[in-house]
Amino acid sequence: MRNYYIAGNWKMHKTRGEAAALAQALVAQLKNGKHKYLVAPSFTALETVGPLLKGSNILLGAQNMAAAEQGAHTGEVSVLQLKDLGVQAVILGHSERRHTYQEDDGLINKKVKLALQHGLEVILCVGELLSEREAGNAEGVCETQTVQGLAGVAVADLPRVTIAYEPVWAIGTGKTATPEDADAIHASIRQVVARLYGTDAAQQILIQYGGSVKPDNAAQLMAKEHIDGALVGGAALSADTFVPIALFK
Ligand code: PGA
Repeated sequence: MRNYYIAGNWKMHKTRGEAAALAQALVAQLKNGKHKYLVAPSFTALETVGPLLKGSNILLGAQNMAAAEQGAHTGEVSVLQLKDLGVQAVILGHSERRHTYQEDDGLINKKVKLALQHGLEVILCVGELLSEREAGNAEGVCETQTVQGLAGVAVADLPRVTIAYEPVWAIGTGKTATPEDADAIHASIRQVVARLYGTDAAQQILIQYGGSVKPDNAAQLMAKEHIDGALVGGAALSADTFVPIALFK
């Protein structure tokens, strides 16, 4: 049996005070939650939110990190700096990084390997554009992003990797993939993992769905065999909408 993993990606929202208030509400309201949880505040709020999550069942995540450990990389944030703040996991390859900031699979793969080498957990995001789906290429795009994102990752490190399937056309648009469509892609990603790492590893890896997950569609999505949780954006910005998703039955 795989665990469910619900993660909140706060994107470029919230001042430190707002982030602290949300973190405190989530710690209180999720304390009896049975699933695995993470929140990913902006870099600027990590130092504020980290201590509030100590001793709770919510992991501290970052939304991105540099591909280099340190050095002349103006504006970037390194894995060493994230670890110094108590960050436990990092979201990599988010579609906004891929499509707004032109991150390619090679760069994302470097980040994945660096994060794992430093003991962090990784949420590796994959997902197709609407044009790629309409061309019948959704599975192929997710396969390529999965294979290239995981290139050189040892099977021993795979338990620290979660894959998030986020169809780009469903992110922040209110359009959700149907549970059936999402599950079909999740199943195909799991097959890719089986081919790369064997069936045991593929059975164990958690594959989250992301893209307009809300309290009223979360349970139907996660009822599907291959959907092991959610990566939530807009609905993660308030306890009123994140908690019902996180406590779904
Ligand atoms: P959304 O974002 O829930 O607002 O669609 C999801 C994400 O980008 O991770």
